[in-house]
Amino acid sequence: MSKLSALTEPFGTGGNSVQAFDVDKVRADFPILSREVYGKPLVFFDSGASAQKPRVVIDCIREAYESYYSNVHRGAHYLSQRATDAYEEARVIIAKFMNAPSDKNIVITSSVTESINLVAATWGRKFLKEGDEVIVSEMEHHANIVPWQMLREEKGIIIKVVPVRDDGSFHLQDFEACLSSRTKLVAITEVSNVLGTRVPIKELTRIAHERGAKVLVDGAQGIVHQGVDVQALDVDFYGWTGHKLYGPSGVGILYGKADVLESMPPFQGGGDMIVRVTFEKTTFQDPPHRFEAGTPPIVQAIGLGAAVKYVEELGMKSIAAQEHSTLAYAQQELADIEGYREVGTAPDKAAIISFLVDGLHPFDVAAVLDRQGVATRVGQHCAEPLMDRMGIEGTVRASFGLYNNRADVDALVAGIRKAKEMLS
Ligand code: ALA
Repeated sequence: MSKLSALTEPFGTGGNSVQAFDVDKVRADFPILSREVYGKPLVFFDSGASAQKPRVVIDCIREAYESYYSNVHRGAHYLSQRATDAYEEARVIIAKFMNAPSDKNIVITSSVTESINLVAATWGRKFLKEGDEVIVSEMEHHANIVPWQMLREEKGIIIKVVPVRDDGSFHLQDFEACLSSRTKLVAITEVSNVLGTRVPIKELTRIAHERGAKVLVDGAQGIVHQGVDVQALDVDFYGWTGHKLYGPSGVGILYGKADVLESMPPFQGGGDMIVRVTFEKTTFQDPPHRFEAGTPPIVQAIGLGAAVKYVEELGMKSIAAQEHSTLAYAQQELADIEGYREVGTAPDKAAIISFLVDGLHPFDVAAVLDRQGVATRVGQHCAEPLMDRMGIEGTVRASFGLYNNRADVDALVAGIRKAKEMLS
């Protein structure tokens, strides 16, 4: 693993000057970044969809399969014990990373989508009734809209939507205007996957709790840019996914407060989540195992533990500093392109840039970028209501990872200029 040496640009966070790391050394940890695409060096700006993996994660996964793979919590043999220990150790690593009080607060799921659906199907079904209100924002990913709509069909709940402003910013007074005595849950993204807008979760949670509502955070795009301290935020639920944090796909996390998880019925029924099964009656495990029916994503969870250790060694504040520095450089360079427009310019946004170029279709721009080796995402980004709000069909999105450097930004800028030349 690369060491935090050759410090580059300082970045002020909370009054402390935090140093970014030497990004070029860190890039060497990611084997895929040395490959070419269409004869051009790969420039990867699609980490918001799924991030690349450092060698330590790839090696951890290979070692698990080659030397101790087995099912967990079941086998009466050495390998099963070894795999169980590694799987449960990953839960402990993840709990510490999130500053959860205990590993019992950490439910291992398959994705943040499953984490949110789990809350809707268990807590939501049990505690929400007709006329109760769930607040979401206008910039939610579909994964934090559709589960609540499905519950609305079933229970007659009401979904209220906090608007975002034209610049993509989120304001607590707009949120407070949505609250009422019927508000039971605020289900909200921490960082918009399209706009990069950060939601002030700590303050929002304080306000929601004063009104007796619970708070669920979709942290998929937040935790990768700023880490999380669930006790400091005081949220009731916090969901995220492994593959955006440089870990494997197929594994997600749901943090829940102990008393809230204990109050919830099981999600899916099956093996491992039970204490005793008879044809007459079944009793269930305590959390978190109550919510982990069937064979879990064993190696994915173990690999995610390795990914968490990797980012912790770099330091989440250093990662934020590095990304902030690269984002600022990108915004400055991109602004010089005639006809370029950034969609979402909220102050202190995370390192995600959605953009349009006057007169050019986003899909055409992304296709030209691709031929230059520059990977972006294009379209609605699973946030169709936000596109409707902004009055656009889609954007090109460059989402940054800890490994993006200024040379990547230069390639992005050159690619957009080429697209303008070719398509105008
Ligand atoms: N939610 C992921 C994205 O924003 C897939 O691209």
